[in-house]
Order: sequence, then structure tokens, then C-alpha cells
Amino acid sequence: MRYGNFDDARKEYVITTPKTPYPWINYLGSDRFFGLISHQGGGYCFYRDARLRRLLRFRYNNVPTDTGGRYFYVREADGTVWNPTFAPVKTELDSFECRHGLGYTRITGKRRGLSVELLAFVPNGHDAEIHQLTLKNEGTAPREVKLFSLLEFCLWNAWDDQTNFQRNLNTGEVEVLGSTIYHKHEYRERRNHFAFYHVNQPVAGFDTDRESFFGLYNGFHDPDVVTSGKSKNSVASGWSPIASFGLDVKLAPGEEKKIVFVLGYVENPKEEKWEKPGVINKKRAEGLIEAFSKPEQVTAALEKLKAGWEGLLSTYRVSSGDEKLDRMVNVWNPYQCMVTFNMSRSASYFESGIGRGMGFRDSNQDLLGFVHLVPERARERIIDIASTQFPDGSAYHQYQPLTKRGNHEAGSGFNDDPLWLILGTAAYIKETGDAAILDESVPFNNDENNKAPLFEHLKRSFYHVTENLGPHGLPLIGRADWNDCLNLNCFSETPDEPYQTTENKKGRTAESIFIAGMFVAIGPEYATIAEKRGLADEAKKARELVKKMSETVLTHGWDGDWYLRAYDFFGNKVGSKECEDGQIFIEPQGYCSMAGIGLESGHVKKALDSVKARLDTKYGIVLQQPAYKTYHLELGEISSYPPGYKENAGIFCHNNPWVIIAETMIGRGDQAFDYYKKIAPAYLEEISDVHRTEPYVYSQMIAGRDAVRHGEAKNSWLTGTAAWNFVAVSQYLLGVKPEWDGLSVKPVIGKEIGEFSLERRCRGATYKIRVKNQGRGGKVALKVNGKPIEGHLVPYAPSGSTVEVDCEA
Ligand code: GLC
Ligand code: GLC
Repeated sequence: MRYGNFDDARKEYVITTPKTPYPWINYLGSDRFFGLISHQGGGYCFYRDARLRRLLRFRYNNVPTDTGGRYFYVREADGTVWNPTFAPVKTELDSFECRHGLGYTRITGKRRGLSVELLAFVPNGHDAEIHQLTLKNEGTAPREVKLFSLLEFCLWNAWDDQTNFQRNLNTGEVEVLGSTIYHKHEYRERRNHFAFYHVNQPVAGFDTDRESFFGLYNGFHDPDVVTSGKSKNSVASGWSPIASFGLDVKLAPGEEKKIVFVLGYVENPKEEKWEKPGVINKKRAEGLIEAFSKPEQVTAALEKLKAGWEGLLSTYRVSSGDEKLDRMVNVWNPYQCMVTFNMSRSASYFESGIGRGMGFRDSNQDLLGFVHLVPERARERIIDIASTQFPDGSAYHQYQPLTKRGNHEAGSGFNDDPLWLILGTAAYIKETGDAAILDESVPFNNDENNKAPLFEHLKRSFYHVTENLGPHGLPLIGRADWNDCLNLNCFSETPDEPYQTTENKKGRTAESIFIAGMFVAIGPEYATIAEKRGLADEAKKARELVKKMSETVLTHGWDGDWYLRAYDFFGNKVGSKECEDGQIFIEPQGYCSMAGIGLESGHVKKALDSVKARLDTKYGIVLQQPAYKTYHLELGEISSYPPGYKENAGIFCHNNPWVIIAETMIGRGDQAFDYYKKIAPAYLEEISDVHRTEPYVYSQMIAGRDAVRHGEAKNSWLTGTAAWNFVAVSQYLLGVKPEWDGLSVKPVIGKEIGEFSLERRCRGATYKIRVKNQGRGGKVALKVNGKPIEGHLVPYAPSGSTVEVDCEA
């Protein structure tokens, strides 16, 4: 069942009922100021850090589930109250529509001939959310309504805001000046930032004290002020400050009015904090208010925002004849990649914004999905990440975006982390040609007295693996590898102990075949980088180590029909037919196959056939089988989940593309595309009632076949799934991939997609690629500007030029 449709021309998803199976959200902002907005206007915004600089209060995991947001109440002459966003009053509307676009959302509710549209976005270059209301009288009689707006302020620190009531119910303060409410909690002391809410016209009244606005025993759906139709002009003192304006709106038949609200964030230099004792210096706020005092300014800012996205998305564009494929590749998948770039794993409807920082492994993988869109920012990100690496090559598992420092709580010891830095850096250089990044002097653990060129960081990443091998010569797993929940050195029997950081066994035995696969797949990138720096001996040495690891996997990491997953603390096999549960895992099948371990000897094909036979379901490939039925002390968190959920045999969408890529590498395009379509959200639109999360973005997990709710997705938006599926579809299925010495054109997508054309900008040149696809499994014949070439590498062309490529595949 569907709850809306894609509007491809406008690059919007159009939701046509407020009653979607879960709140379907969108993101606003792309630089420093960000907002989350659901189709019912729920959500919040923050400046740079969702924990420390949160402007609006949001009640996670509440009843109802989407509680807190930007609300507008329409009170009709007969006392009926409704919201254009349906929530929170939930008066039935004559029509409802929410359009989530790229960086903006438009929600329109209509009742009895009155249409009210909320347009919300963060204009480029400004620290503010614009809420523009458009009211239109579509009837034949004049209309008079009262309009009340409502926001609830968060007291900046979102964690403190929800826990420290003995203090923070005393500290909220506001100033009200005409049509502007200033929120200045803690401004009197150490904060030099404040928020304001402004409306571009005279108001009938206002409220800033929550209890006055609602009445102590009322909810969002029946606030006193709205029910009675009159603002109380309350001034908050402690308790919970809000911002509400009351406006009287009169509309002649056919008349339309636009009202602009601005929710802004301002920082003042310390010496310019006050206008006079106790009164905020409002100069900077007034600048922001000026910039959006007229609807024309709002329109211009929205056009600028849209133009920015057009520019970004024109880097990779396909026209395939499959509209679902096109909308994933051209719009929604890159959009999600940009959101994961901005948010990492901090703020979504499943991540509370007060939890983890930026992940070392996550950020490196996210980079694969946005490096072609914003290469300069990817460069910066690589340096930030590398700065949290330790001198021995290991790395902080997470770092804080505000300080860019490693996070002590999460610590280090996740032994896959270092290798992802090589992968991310290689992707950056291939995309841009900017090998100079390798000479950039980068600190270890942010210590300015201990710096080395980025290349040296990669070298230490590489050798961190070979210097930490276990009894079989396979990489030690440490606290966990990519699978955070396979905790082979944490034998936890105490509730509340974190699985990831409790390490109560000396980790010198448990080994990961997954990291071995990564080493064989990613190690050659390091060797190539070394070679290109003129370090032939180093390159040779690296290649030998990679070869040796590959052999070790075939000797000790092969289970007969698939790659093993690991050896546990006692040296027992994990992911073997000898195991009762957890006999086969997806991760090593994906990564060892991508690495080509045993490609000629048929191991790869065998492993992928086993995936198909044992792990494939109608909703995607599950992580392992059979699911663990009981808790295993020696395996950790993976066995803590009920069967079918999360890492215990859920469909963990992040690793499906590894299998997709591997399938293309052995030429099985039909199978690869089939796997792709099982989890790509646009193809799931028709089963939104089962899938439940947004049909325009990937979710981290879909419940596996052992779960009661097989097919139900959770944790949408912030997941490495976005980047990896973009890699799979753009570089392998459609087959256009920047390589060291040229743009590789080698589609392997099976027969379903016939002819297609594609435009790719890379290193300043534009490649116009026409593909005649007969599903030849990677055997391509290319013509570049009309002339046939050998192989699949189109040489890089000078910046500014256009290259015509014809491909038979
Ligand atoms: C989460 C983590 C990621 C990890 C994955 C598998 O998505 O963010 O780092 O690899 O789970 O456990
Ligand atoms: C839990 C989750 C896993 C995630 C990790 C992040 O272990 O199951 O998916 O990667 O938390 O800390």
C-alpha cells in the first residue's frame, strides 16, 4: 500500500495522508543550522550540535510518537480548531499534502475552503528556519480566522533539558519586543547565544510561558489559549519557555496572504552581549529578521537552495527507462548521502541527538557516497578523521563533531577501523586526482607535537592489521569489527554493561575473517598509493602481505561452501556449518568476495551461491543464519537480540550492497540487480504498510525472516547503507567508477535495463555515456569520442572538456 507518490520533476516525495505508517521525515539545512521535520510538522532544530545547541524541545519515544514541532493552530469563527499539519489537534481535513523536497518541506491542509500551507526550510548561509504560512480563501464568502503559532524551546543542552529539572525549571528567560520573542536561557551567565522567533507583522497577542499557554492539565491538542481564542501575553520566568503568537487573519474570497516566521540562532561576541544591563544586544537578530521580512525574500532564498541542489546532483545523472532506478540514483540516494554526511549518526527519529559522536568507520564509509558531490568537504573530513588516529595505527572509534576530539568513552580497539581510512582516502584521490592530500601533515590523537603526512597514517593503518594477527595468522578482532555486536572478547553477564567497551578477556586469540577480507580488498589501494609515491619496495612488500592474507583465508577461513566469520576467544569457529546457530554470515561473503579471495578457484562463486541459498529472503539478505536462539556469553550483543532483529539475522541493509558488488564482479548482473531492488526504498513504495519507514530513504535494518514482523524497517536515514548502495548502483550496476588512471565504464546490471545513458562529471570534465546493454556480465566494448579503445578505462580528460563514450555491455 502507498501513502503518497514521487514527484520526479520537482524532486519531491508527496505524502497524501497524515496517517503514514510511521512519521516520515525530512532534513533542513546543509551547513551549520539543521532541522528535522516530519510530515506532521514534528521535529526540532539545532545549531551544529544536536546535543549542546538544540533550539526546540522534542519528546523522543513519546505518546503519540511524534510530539513537539512547529505547530500552527487555525481557529475558525465557530470555535473549530485545526492544524494544516493535521497534528496535534487531529481535526479531519478536507485534504492534506506534505511535499518533502531537497532541504525543504511544504505541508498543506485544507478545510472548508481555507487552504493553509506551511513551507519550512533553512536558507543557505543563514542560521535560521523559515516558516512561511500561505493562507488562501478558496471559498466565495469572506473568512475570518485566528491563527496561533507554537514552538517550545529546548534549554540548549538536550540531555540536561530532559534530566536536570531541579535546576532547569528555574532558569528559562525571555524578552518580548513587538513581534519577536527572544529566548535567553543561561545567556546571563556563560552562553553568548540566544534564539528568537519573529513574525513579519503586528500580532494580536503572544505567549512565552508554557503553562499559561496550555493550562497545566492540557496537551498539544487542546491548549487553553487556542480553545479560548485569546493569547495571554504571558512572560516566562523559569519553567518552560515557549514562543506563540496570536494573529487575526481576514481573507476576502479568493484572497491569499503570506506570513513569514523566522526562528533564528544568534551568537554575540562576549563584549557585545548586552545592549544595556540585562537586555540582549539584538543587532544580529535584526539583520536576520530584515533578510526575511518579505515573502519575495523567502522565494528567492528557496530558489537559491534548489539551484544549489541542482548543481550538486548534476554530477551523476542516469536515464535508464526505469523510473524507480532513476529516482534513487539521481535524487534520493545522493540526498540521503548528504544527510549522513551532515548528521553522521547523531539526529534522526531513531537517534536522539544526545548519543554517539561521529564514527571513525562510519564517517569513512559515508564519504564514499558524497565525495563526488562535495570533494573539498570530504578532504576536510578525512583530515579530521585521521587526526583521531593513534600513533600505532589504531583509532578512536568515535569523535565529537564540535571539538573534533576522540571520544574516551567509546575508546579504541575496533580493529577494522584503521582500514576504512585507506578506503576513504583512496576514494577521495580517485575522484579528485588530489594526491597532495597524502602530504598533508596530520596529528596523531590531535597532538600538534606528533604529526606526520597523511600517507604515514595510511601506512600505520595497513600495518596495524599485520602487527595484530592471531593464532591462525588472521587479524585479531579487538572489541568488534564492522559488526559492532560480535563481541568476542567481552563475556558480559552484568546488565547495563556496554558490550562494545567492556573488555574482560585479553583479546589475543579471537580473529576476524571479515577484517582479513577487508585487508585483501583494501590493502592493494595502499600498495598503489605507495607505488605512485615512488615507493616500489613498499608497494611490493604490501602486495606480498596481501597475498599472504588471501592464502591464509583460504587455509583457515574457508568452511567448505563459504567463508568463515571468525574464531572466538577459545579458538572455536564462528559462522561454520559446525555451529548450531550462526552457521553462515553475510559480511565475510561480501568482503572476501569483493576482495576476490579464491576467485579463480571458484570460492567466490560458491560463497555467493551459499548466500543465495541460505541468506536471501523476499525482503533482502539477512545477516546470518540460523539466528541465535539464546544468549551466548562468548559472542556478545549479537545474540542479545530476539531472532530476526538487528545483527541477529535482521536484514542489515549496509552489507547487502557488498554482495551486490561481488555479484557484479563475477558478472551476475541479474542477480545483483535483483538484490538491489529488494532493499532500494523506491521499489518498496507499494509495500509501505509492511516496510513502514520512508519510501525515499534507506533504513539501517529490515526485520529478517525469523522475526514476527518480517519486512518491517527501522532506523531510517542515518546509516552507511546510503553510501554503500550508492557505490553499488553507480559504480558497479551502472558501472561508472573513478579509478586511479581513468574513469572505469563497466556496467553489470543484467538484461532488465536495456539501453541507458548517463552523465558523470569527474575532475572537471563531463562524460556523456551511452550504454547498449545486453547483460554481457562485465565484458564491455568502448568507444571514446567515436574511437574504439582497449579495456574499460576511459582516460581522464582535461577539466572543462566533454567526452562522448559509447559502451556495449
Ligand atoms: C551500526 C554502526 C556501524 C556498524 C553497524 C553494524 O550501523 O553505526 O558502525 O558497523 O551498526 O553493527
Ligand atoms: C548497538 C547496535 C548496533 C550499533 C551499535 C552502535 O550495538 O545494535 O547496530 O552499531 O549499537 O553503538
